[in-house]
Parts: sequence; structure tokens; C-alpha cells
Amino acid sequence: MIDYDPFEEFRDPQTYDLEDEGYYDDYPLTEQWARSLGGPLLDLACGTGRMALRMAKLGYQVTGVDIMPEMIEWARQKALRQGVSIDWVVADARTFHLQKQFPFIYMLENVFQFFLTRADQEAMLARVREHMLPQGCFLFETRNPSSRNLLQVRHPDPPKYTLPDGGHLLTTEEQYYDPMTQIQHYTRHLTFLHKAGQQEEKTLRTALRYVFPQEMEALLYYNGFQIRSCYGSWQQEPLTATSPAMIYVCQVLSSPATSSAVGRNGSSSFSSHNPRGARSALLSPIHVWNHQARAETI
Ligand SMILES: C[S@@+](CC[C@H](N)C(=O)[O-])C[C@H]1O[C@@H](n2cnc3c(N)ncnc32)[C@H](O)[C@@H]1O
Repeated sequence: MIDYDPFEEFRDPQTYDLEDEGYYDDYPLTEQWARSLGGPLLDLACGTGRMALRMAKLGYQVTGVDIMPEMIEWARQKALRQGVSIDWVVADARTFHLQKQFPFIYMLENVFQFFLTRADQEAMLARVREHMLPQGCFLFETRNPSSRNLLQVRHPDPPKYTLPDGGHLLTTEEQYYDPMTQIQHYTRHLTFLHKAGQQEEKTLRTALRYVFPQEMEALLYYNGFQIRSCYGSWQQEPLTATSPAMIYVCQVLSSPATSSAVGRNGSSSFSSHNPRGARSALLSPIHVWNHQARAETI
């Protein structure tokens, strides 16, 4: 599907942190859900520990899982420097087994988009189910496939960062969206202008899969989840066609005998005795799941 390494940017966690610094938009809502559900917490695809460190400082016991040893090693060093204790695990979200369950699992900064195929998405969702307590929740975000996100450049003004040596990092980006795979391919050019005068160039490529709202509802449903809340931004706005993000809080379908994806407001998608089983499409009325009605304020 892709002929390049889409994780190259995560082999240099210091530069990753430089570009990610100052991003806190997801703190308040994630913290609210953590308060409501309690710990211990599983930070899936935790990266360099941005949220894991924050949660540990708030007093939660946190496990951080990430596929990239470089990201976990840097996160471990940051935790040591900051005097916080976290269980760091290098593992693939599609295959990990911790023999432990959590009331709250979160996966932030659009990591959902790194699962490029349905098989990858389903493998990850199965691991989430395995690690979630029966009443637990899984919070994650993915970019909304709005025309803005799909077709417009992310950073019209190329960002500039200050390097630790006082020099500068300049970045530019090109993108190409493949509507058949729903994958956006990014090529980023990084120019490091070091204080001492030397210049270094790097090209990094990334592939991000988009999922449409009704597709997401079906994917979650047929993998045994029901959506508890859905937001279009970290400010808890409802999801609309122009929202920047799709943020979901979902739970495992409680009992296959009684489960349905019926929302609190009565809007319903499917009603079935078996979340993976066949449904009688001909006999059921057709409903479109109403995302807008589900931005639950907690
Ligand atoms: C954009 S960073 C987000 C890091 C962190 N969630 C945050 O909010 O700061 C994406 C992270 O996802 C990780 N990742 C991607 N695919 C993964 C997988 N299959 N299993 C575990 N981690 C994965 C990458 O290694 C990277 O650290």
C-alpha cells in the first residue's frame, strides 16, 4: 500500500517534541474523562509521553505503550528528569497483551490514522477491548475528512522552530490524497540551520488514513463498541461537516443479548442481538447515526 517508512519522524523524538511543543488542546477533556472513570490509565501510542507525564503528575498510575523504541526511550528519560513513574512498554497497539485491564484507555493526536487498513484498525480495537474493564471507556481522535482537512495544506505559512543550540528548524510540506485508500500522503522537508553555521536537510514521509463518520460508527459497532460521546473539537463542540476533529468516547457493547447502538437521544443506528452478526436490513427502518446529538458534557 505504501513503499516508504511512514514512522521515520518518530525515530528522532527530540525533533518530534520540538514541533509538538505547546500542544495542550486535548488536556481538559481527557482529564475530565479520567476524573470521571478513574485510573489506572492506558495511554496507547503514547509517543514521548506528552499526556502520560501529565496524568502521572496528576496522581494516576499510567502505562504508556508505543511501537517506537526511540519514542519510549525519550519518554523514559523525560519521566526520570521530571521525577515521575510510568510503566513504559514498547509494543504494537495491534498485538500487545499486558494481562491487565483499565477503566480508561486513550489514544491521542490522531494516532487512529496510522492504522491504514481495516485489518489494522480491527486488530487495534480488539486489543483495546481486551484491555478495557467492562464499564471502561476508550477515547480517541481522528481528523474529520472535511474538504478542508483533505484538500487544503495544513500549514500555509511554513512553521519555524528554535533548535536547542539556538539555530532554527524550517519545515515545508506537500500532500497527496488517494480517495480509494482514503490515505493522505505527506512529504515534509526539514531544514536545520544550526547556530554554528552548518545546514542539515531531512525528508520525512507519513501516511494518514481517513475514516468517514458513518464508516467509523459501523467500524466501532461491528467490533463490539458503542459510542458514548462524540465531539467535533476538544472544546466539546458537536461533530459537524466542518469540524476539525472526530473525537470518540466508546464503550464495549454491554451484553450481546440486549446490546444495540441506540443513543440516549433515541437516535439509533443498528439494533442487533449480535454486534458481529447479520442484521435484518430489510426489516429494519433505516437510521443514520446522528453524531451531532452526542457531544456529552461531562
Ligand atoms: C503523533 S504521535 C502521538 C503521540 C501521543 N499519543 C501524543 O498525543 O502525544 C503518534 C505515535 O503513535 C505511535 N504509533 C503509531 N502506530 C502505532 C502502533 N501500531 N502501535 C503503537 N504505537 C503506534 C508512533 O510511534 C508515535 O509515537
